[in-house]
Amino acid sequence: MSYITDRLRAEAAAAKGRQDPQPVPGQMFEDVLQHATVKRRSLLKGGFGATIAAAFGSASLVACGGGDDDEPGTSYSVGFKRVGATTGDNVIVPEGYTASVMFSAGDAVVAGSVPFTGAFLGSADTERFAGGQHDGMHFYELPGVDPNRGGLLAINHEAPDARILFAGGAIPAAPTAEDRRIALSSVGVSVVEVELFNGNWRVKPNSTYNRRYTGNTVFNVNGPAASVVGATVVGTLNNCASGTTPWGTYLTCEETTDNYLDPSQPDEGYGWVVEIDPRGELTGLPTKRTALGRFDHENTAYMLSAANDLAIYMGDDSTPGCIYKFVCSGKYNPANRAANVNLLDSGTLYAARFNADGTGQWIALVQGQNGLVAGATDPGNVTQGPQTPATIDFNTQADVLINTKAAARVAGATLMDRPEWITVGPDNKIYVTLTNNGGRQVTDAANPRATNPHGHIVKWTEDGNSPLATTFRWEVFMLGGDQRLTANNQKGNIVGDTFSSPDGICVDPQGRLWVQTDAGTGSSITNTFGNNAMYYVDQTTKQSTRFLVGPDGCEITGLTYTPDLKTFFINIQHPGGTWPSNVQGNTLPARSSTIVVRRTDGRPVGA
Ligand code: FEO
Ligand code: CA
Ligand code: CA
Repeated sequence: MSYITDRLRAEAAAAKGRQDPQPVPGQMFEDVLQHATVKRRSLLKGGFGATIAAAFGSASLVACGGGDDDEPGTSYSVGFKRVGATTGDNVIVPEGYTASVMFSAGDAVVAGSVPFTGAFLGSADTERFAGGQHDGMHFYELPGVDPNRGGLLAINHEAPDARILFAGGAIPAAPTAEDRRIALSSVGVSVVEVELFNGNWRVKPNSTYNRRYTGNTVFNVNGPAASVVGATVVGTLNNCASGTTPWGTYLTCEETTDNYLDPSQPDEGYGWVVEIDPRGELTGLPTKRTALGRFDHENTAYMLSAANDLAIYMGDDSTPGCIYKFVCSGKYNPANRAANVNLLDSGTLYAARFNADGTGQWIALVQGQNGLVAGATDPGNVTQGPQTPATIDFNTQADVLINTKAAARVAGATLMDRPEWITVGPDNKIYVTLTNNGGRQVTDAANPRATNPHGHIVKWTEDGNSPLATTFRWEVFMLGGDQRLTANNQKGNIVGDTFSSPDGICVDPQGRLWVQTDAGTGSSITNTFGNNAMYYVDQTTKQSTRFLVGPDGCEITGLTYTPDLKTFFINIQHPGGTWPSNVQGNTLPARSSTIVVRRTDGRPVGA
């Protein structure tokens, strides 16, 4: 969740005459910090609803990125020279590296489309150019193309970059139907063909692969809740982070359980994982997969066994939220891509309980089991303070899936400090970022800090290293913060370069753990941690080394790479100054962008 999303949702909720569905102090902590920054820079003007709105694997394991090439003799041992904790309106990378802007909000996508060049366009055009708030992404190989020189990028757009859409720099306070259509065109997914061209990566202009999926696109609905949701839904939005499948489809995650950009749409249509074929070959897609549950989905990461059993791990970025896994009933068929198309429609959804002794259970969210019956009592988010229990009926599996958050609470899952990304390493070790939870009043072993301001990272291992496991062992891997801070709950235990609010996390195919941050961007944060950044963290020593620093006001998110790991694609979301225009030499507004990070000596990134 970015602060832009928080603001948009709050505005929409106010306009609907009700409270934000997650009006929790944990979000407010971040909001206060971020709002201060935004206010200082006078970036946010106008409104959406009533008041002020926003500017807003190895074959078995590929958790968050592209490839698995391992050239003989090539070293991937981390050896880059760290960068310092800095502020400033540029991307900082280590000595010997380059960072270049490749794909910004408003850039042309669909063949023949018109990019944003300063003049505001109508929805027919905005529907065809790049959406805003670049977030999760994944690199896909293309048949017949050297994957180290070209392929497809599927890129999420969490929210609009309103400054390239509307003259007021924000969605109008009383949006017309066309205004709504423009805003909805700027979320969803871009699929673009990318290529190394004259030594630089670029989006291949007018490729027939280039396409948009937006808040105006019609999506199929499959799985046990389709009977309630309907056969189709108009729009996807809040496309936060993402994941991939062994059969090369893209899973874009909806981090909202209502359509706050078009409140006329039923809430049940949103909050799902949506499967897209970036190559556009498989019939029946794009499809919302209801079997994976409805909540504020952050990303997906998968584990595949040698016997082709498949589990998909997911976090609910709520304050607090639970951690889930979906285990497919069927097996992955590596011989027939099309045979896997509906694999995500049948299986068991579980939620995680983290016991104080370091063990854990996966609790099946199946109607009739674990208290999921008619007249169940939902205790509410008890970690945040006293709650009023509510009665909820789970008469069908559709009831369970549509009300997944409540089902997890009823079943006794652990309420975590805002689960963001999950990653599964080549060794099947699993990590999740718990970004922060300023409103936590009741602690537990897996969420040990009250008013957790800087977040933490939890690591676990499935018993038997199996995706089918119903038990696991876990540990708190790292507590965010800095020893220079005075409050005990702000110190953390990071060795090396410190950070706050981990969000993106990815173990690459060489077993190297990367962490990206989405902390507040006010001076109270940046004076200690610098701008949001990306870090390498040694899994054994836990030494943290800063690799990249983003421009003022941004969060760092999205990480994918070519199979040779010589090209990293990284997203810069909601830059708050003038970047990237200041490096491009134009006067366009700041725009969320995908950057390319490489080395000048051509060796793998990070080594
Ligand atoms: Fe879109 Fe939870 O970050
Ligand atoms: Ca975040
Ligand atoms: Ca995130």
